[in-house]
Formats: sequence, C-alpha cells, structure tokens
Amino acid sequence: MDQRNFTGDYDTLLEIVKTRVSVRNLKPDPIPDDYVAKILEIGRWAMSGANGQPWDFVVVKDPAIKKELFRVYAEENNDFIYWMEQQRDFKLRHPSFQMTHDEALQKQRTSVGWSIAPVLIVVLGDGRRQWATVQGAHTFGRDQSHLTDGLANTAMMMHLAAGALGLGSQHVTIHIQEPFKRVLGVPDLLTFSLIMPIGYPAVPPKEGVRRPLADMVHYDKFDMSKYMTNEQVLQYLYALREKTVPVYSHSYTGRPPAPNGGKG
Ligand SMILES: Cc1cc2nc3c(=O)[nH]c(=O)nc-3n(C[C@H](O)[C@H](O)[C@H](O)COP(=O)(O)O)c2cc1C
Repeated sequence: MDQRNFTGDYDTLLEIVKTRVSVRNLKPDPIPDDYVAKILEIGRWAMSGANGQPWDFVVVKDPAIKKELFRVYAEENNDFIYWMEQQRDFKLRHPSFQMTHDEALQKQRTSVGWSIAPVLIVVLGDGRRQWATVQGAHTFGRDQSHLTDGLANTAMMMHLAAGALGLGSQHVTIHIQEPFKRVLGVPDLLTFSLIMPIGYPAVPPKEGVRRPLADMVHYDKFDMSKYMTNEQVLQYLYALREKTVPVYSHSYTGRPPAPNGGKG
C-alpha cells in the first residue's frame, strides 16, 4: 500500500462523520445493490482484536422477513424494554420512551417502523472468533469485549459508509436474541447483535449532540476537575435528555416532540 499523505482528506472525513446521524424514518424506495456491497466492503475492513473479525452479516431484502423481524422487535424486544423504562423517572427514560404520548411519532415507531427500509443489514457475532486475541484479554471483567467491540467497530464503519453514499441508517440493538435468530435461522451459538436498516432518509438531517471536547480530554494525567460526582452524573443525564429528546423526535418525524403535559 502506498504511503499516501491523507492530510487533505481529513476535512472530508470530518464532514462524513458529522453529517452521519441516526435516521429512524427511511423511505421504502429501493437502493442500488452496489451501495449495499460498498457498505459491506467498508465493514469488512473494521479493526478487531488480533484481527479475529468476529462478525457475519445477513442482508435482508425480503419484505416478509423484514416484517417478521419487526413484529418480533415490537412484540418481544420492545415490550420488555418499554416496561423496564417505566421504572425510571419520566425525564430520565430513554428518549424513545418519553414520547409515547406523541401519536404520529408512535405510529412511525410501532406500526411499520424500520420494516419498510429497503435493506436491513443484520450484524451477527461469533464469540469463538474473539479467541484470536490473547487469553488475558478476557479477564478483569472484560469478558466478551473483544466480540462486542469488534461488532461495534464494523457497525460504525458501515454507518459512515452509508452516510458517505447519501443514505440514512439506524442502529437497532437487539436485547432478546432468540426470536430473531429463529426468524433468520441463525445458529444458537452466534450473537444477534444489531439490525441496521438502510435507505434514503424520509426526514431532513439534523446535527447531533455531543459533549464538548474540553470536557472529555485530559492531558498527561486524569484531570479531577473533570470528574463527575454521582450527583453530577444524574444532573448530566437529565440535561442530556433535554437535548436529545428533540433530536430523537426529529429522527422519527422531522419535527420536535408534541407537548406531552408530563404524561408518560
Ligand atoms: C451501542 C449502540 C446502541 C444503539 N442502540 C440503538 C437502538 O437500539 N435504537 C436506536 O434507534 N438507536 C440506537 N443507537 C443510536 C444512538 O441512539 C445514537 O447514535 C446516538 O443517540 C447519537 O445520535 P446520532 O447517531 O444521530 O449521532 C445505538 C448506538 C450505539 C453505538
């Protein structure tokens, strides 16, 4: 490989990184097969522990299979997630579960949701391949990290590739894996990590929310003035939700959430 000077490409990369956002409302219009191949090719080049490449990808285009995956998501996965969120103070709940009063948004989330996306890329993991790395990597509480980190890396690469092609993508985490495995015939031994719906965005992009760099970077030693107390973490989460609920709403409907009157 040539030792290229990539300095000039930084701005392009930054633009791709900053314009990629989660799009939770995609058009059903088909996307070229070539785009899917390009996204997968970028995913193939992700980093992984000792190059174990623990991932497999299932490209789902069959409408009946997409519909069945979404049914399982709504009826089994999200039913569990919804009820767990009820344990929290309303304003601390995950943004998607603070807008349950917004009928249009709920319809978008729960009627067909991401099942209408033209393509779903399902990211699976094979935990055995993480053993490519040193055995010690799996101690000290890191457990499955060389599997999950690898899957996150390949997913991130593919989200960026989708963004660079002018597509929108979403990252749908799967918590209760078994019913999804049955739909796709995935062996029990594998991990059903996430579903990445891909398509043309049906809502305009909106810039994301991030902590300022100065808050997260430490020089030479950990700067204790940046350490949050437990109480500050709680305040941080409340403040974060205030910023991210409108962004989530936008990603579903292209507008801020409807006023809720404190209903949850
Ligand atoms: C590990 C991980 C899990 C995520 N799970 C979900 C999910 O289940 N559903 C969803 O809509 N977005 C999910 N996301 C997307 C995040 O909500 C999103 O990246 C974050 O709010 C920042 O917004 P942005 O992607 O628009 O920049 C996930 C992202 C990551 C990295």
